[in-house]
Formats: sequence, C-alpha cells, structure tokens
Amino acid sequence: MLEVKTLKKKYGEFTAVDGISLHINKGEVVGLLGPNGAGKSTTISMIATLFKPNSGEILFEGENIVKNPKVIQPFIGYVPQEIALYETLSGYENLKYFGALYGLSGKAIKEQIQRISKIIGIEDRLKDRVSTYSGGMKRRINIGVGLLHNPKLVIMDEPTVGIDPQSRNHILETVNKLKSEGISVLYTSHYMEEVEAICERIYIMDHGKIIADGTQEALLEQSKIQSGMKLKFEKPVAQIVDQIKAMAWVTQVQILDEYEMIIRSSGNGSSHKDILNALMAMNSGLISFDIQKPDLEQVFLHMTGRGLRD
Ligand SMILES: Nc1ncnc2c1ncn2[C@@H]1O[C@H](COP(=O)(O)OP(=O)(O)O)[C@@H](O)[C@H]1O
Ligand SMILES: [Mg+2]
Repeated sequence: MLEVKTLKKKYGEFTAVDGISLHINKGEVVGLLGPNGAGKSTTISMIATLFKPNSGEILFEGENIVKNPKVIQPFIGYVPQEIALYETLSGYENLKYFGALYGLSGKAIKEQIQRISKIIGIEDRLKDRVSTYSGGMKRRINIGVGLLHNPKLVIMDEPTVGIDPQSRNHILETVNKLKSEGISVLYTSHYMEEVEAICERIYIMDHGKIIADGTQEALLEQSKIQSGMKLKFEKPVAQIVDQIKAMAWVTQVQILDEYEMIIRSSGNGSSHKDILNALMAMNSGLISFDIQKPDLEQVFLHMTGRGLRD
C-alpha cells in the first residue's frame, strides 16, 4: 500500500532523514521506533505530504505522492503530536467542526461521530468542553479528528507521550480497533513496550537511518540477544560474584544490590539449567531466580550502545 524508497531530508546542512526505505501493507500495524531526534517526525511528515523530501520516492498504491500529493491525501489520516482543538468547544463540536471541513454534515457527521467515539473510547464525555479534558482525552479527540474522513492509512506521531495510563490504554486499543477494520497504521514511538504490544512489524530508527527492521521475534533473533536471569541470594553477592563470572556460560554480570544480580549467558536456553545447577553445586545461597525476557530496548542497546531514552 505504501512504499518509501531511499528517502532523504536535510535541514540546511543537517541530514535528519538519511536514505530510509520502508513499506506498509494493507491492514498492517507498523511501528517506527527510535529515540528523540532519530528523524521519526520528519519521516512521517513527508509521508503525510506536509513537506517534500530532498530525494527519494514515496509511493502510495504505486503512485508517486512526492510529485502528486493529492493521490494520498483523501486516504491518509495524520495525527500530529501537538494537539489542535478548540478548547471552548465540546469534543462533539470539535469533531463536527473538523468534519465540516471534510464536507460532512447532517446525518453523515452524526453517524461518523458516533462511530469514531466508539473507536477512541470517549462516548460519555463527548458533550463536555475540551478545556475540562485531561491531556489524554484531548489526544484521543485529536486522533478522532484524524479518522473523520475514513482514511485507509493512519499515522500517529508519539500519541501517548505525557498522558495518563488510562488514555494510553484507550489509544493502544484504538490502534487494535483500526486494524480489525482493515486500516493500516504507522505508529511512531520511543516506548518500546507499546511498539512490542501492538505492532506486527517494527522499523528501528536512529540518526536518520533505519538500523533494523522485522517482527519482534526476528529482531531479537538477529541481534542474538540472550534472555537473562535475575538471581537473589541469602548472602552478599560480593562473596560469590567472581565465581559466577568465571562460569563458562556467563557473559555479563550486573549487580543490582547487595543480594541481587542479573546474569546473561551466551549459550542456548539450556544454559539457564546449567547455571542453576552450578549455583546449587557451589552452595551459593540462591534464594530465587527470575528469567528476564529479552526486549527491543536490549536490541537497540546492542546495536547502538545507547538506551532508547538516553
Ligand atoms: N525544522 C527543523 N529545523 C532544523 N532541524 C530540525 C527541524 N526539525 C527537526 N530537526 C532536527 O532533525 C532531527 C530529527 O528530528 P525529528 O524528525 O523531529 O526526530 P524525532 O521525531 O525522531 O524525535 C533532530 O535532530 C531535530 O533536532
Ligand atoms: Mg518526533
């Protein structure tokens, strides 16, 4: 449905987007994950035809939208990070107002608002003024505005930054509802937990480049990240840490506090068992252990040496 090829965008001498390629299929939820400043907003602004790239192509259903932005505009719903609503109007009136800009009125807009308020999960407060809403509710109305013209592709720019957990869940739920209606979503975030939870495929972006892409499983597989084990002992870890570091399977030891540490191993899944057996044999005073599932944060750390939120 959407294909981006070697897209480049400069601000003066600075290259914010450096030759990236990506694609989105119909009905797919795709994540664009990267730290602040990676170039995510710049990328999606070009897809939303807000400005043109210096070079590269963006194809929508095979048509070049850099040359002909009108091809995508009726089918794309862009939800910017900044909230753009009339505070003194109610949520309902805002949706009605923006609907009118799309030529919706009368019965059509009524039905559309009813449908959208279900998708964004905000039916009960719709008649209240926007000025009385929480940041998260405003964000949800903002998403609703982006859905008024029944887009086939919805692009959301960090929709959950700085909002309450309840609204966050509603937004993640909204993405799932859109998917179930066959709508494609490009979801931009620097929260890997969200991207892991809702996206089928993920592009990881850093310094204007896509540094990895694939399903979550494939990304974890590619970067050969091992799950770790959190271990708790009845005696201070200082007494046993050298012995643990010396074990053949252990590649990394991270001390959490006097009695707790995380270890990572180079072996396959069975190395957990080997390590536990060795800890028993050396009378380490192990009280409990907890397997730490590998995640995208570790993929990013592995590839860049930095955390996603540094
Ligand atoms: N209008 C602009 N002028 C100059 N530099 C910009 C402008 N917009 C963004 N940048 C820079 O481009 C880089 C990418 O920005 P952005 O696309 O907003 O990243 P992200 O959305 O991933 O945080 C950042 O280093 C940012 O400072
Ligand atoms: Mg941004």
